[in-house]
Amino acid sequence: MRNITCIEDLRQLARRKVPRAFFDYAEAGSYAQETLRANRAHLERIKLRQRVLVDVDERDTSTTIVGEKVSLPLALGSVAMTGLKHGNGEILACRAAHAAGTQFTLSTMSICSIEDVASAVGKPFWFQLYVMRDRGFVRSLIERAAAANCSALVLTVDLPLLAQRHCDVKNGLSVPPAMKMKNLINMASKPGWVFSVLSGKRWTFGNLAGHVKGMEGVKSLAQWTSTQFDPTLSWKDVEWIRSIWPRKLIIKGILDIDDAKLAAKTGASAIVVSNHGGRQLDGAPSSITMLPKIADAVGADIEVMFDGGIRSGQDMMRALALGARSCLIGRAYIFGLGAGGQAGVAIAIDILKKELDVTMALCGVKSIKEIDHGVIAQV
Ligand SMILES: Cc1cc2nc3c(=O)[nH]c(=O)nc-3n(C[C@H](O)[C@H](O)[C@H](O)COP(=O)(O)O)c2cc1C
Repeated sequence: MRNITCIEDLRQLARRKVPRAFFDYAEAGSYAQETLRANRAHLERIKLRQRVLVDVDERDTSTTIVGEKVSLPLALGSVAMTGLKHGNGEILACRAAHAAGTQFTLSTMSICSIEDVASAVGKPFWFQLYVMRDRGFVRSLIERAAAANCSALVLTVDLPLLAQRHCDVKNGLSVPPAMKMKNLINMASKPGWVFSVLSGKRWTFGNLAGHVKGMEGVKSLAQWTSTQFDPTLSWKDVEWIRSIWPRKLIIKGILDIDDAKLAAKTGASAIVVSNHGGRQLDGAPSSITMLPKIADAVGADIEVMFDGGIRSGQDMMRALALGARSCLIGRAYIFGLGAGGQAGVAIAIDILKKELDVTMALCGVKSIKEIDHGVIAQV
């Protein structure tokens, strides 16, 4: 892991170390990937304002996210199947986040279960909830997250059903990995990955296995999962979840001004302006295009978080300037995990933190609360 200087280095290393089906799964967007590309392209076209002769000797990147103190305005977002990018990936990523003074979100579709992570890390983490048709199971997931002392529930609302990623179909992606000849040959060329995943706690969806009635055997579990995402999901469900979840609620997947205003009335602590990293509605606007409009519309009514395309501290600066209080990352830390396990995630966070710190200095700001529209160059 020498000579890693940026997130792109981690991406390239992860591509060499992780079997193709799982690397492609992490990298891809849905359908023609227009929204995936727009997330990056629209961040890059925002230019930062270079300021000089400002004393920026004492800088501080710390802030709070939904009331929790963090060393930088960034948390690790929910990523399904993290434990198949590296064995025990969820535990390793959570440890790296906590060691860096920030937070980790465990996906419903994780490999390590809520209980696996809770018993392996010392501090509360966040749990991301997908609402399934079986509301009894949804309630039990919420109760398990509460029992595991999760400090926030991240309710994902932009996946009433799963959009297609062409590469997953072509690669025959399955959980656990399908032992087809093509996959076996590819896996055989990634011995580090094979060792880490084989020595990991689990190879299937840890939050579902053993908790869903009548689900014996992995195949039926996978089938159950693909039919369980609930297209009837509505604001009534948000109300119900709010009424049974005792702690902070974050609504993730808001990309529309009207939806943002409705979300602000639910009693949730924050929204995440997000298009699921370009993995759901292809043709939707980039997250960064919608961020300032949504931030203006909700004002101080609800905390605004952002994700979609963050690959540098400069990107974080752009999002903070356009109205986000904090950012989530997906691929940036998953590349780190694939490249080097816990150390790789730690490097990813450290790169973003250092880049944000230098960017702040060169824009003439010393603290997160000083960052506003004023750091954007009018070109
Ligand atoms: C491989 C992968 C799996 C994901 N799985 C989930 C998930 O299980 N739940 C969820 O709410 N979001 C999921 N997301 C979306 C991320 O939480 C986040 O919104 C997105 O990755 C942000 O874009 P970025 O990857 O460009 O940072 C996933 C994203 C990726 C890349």
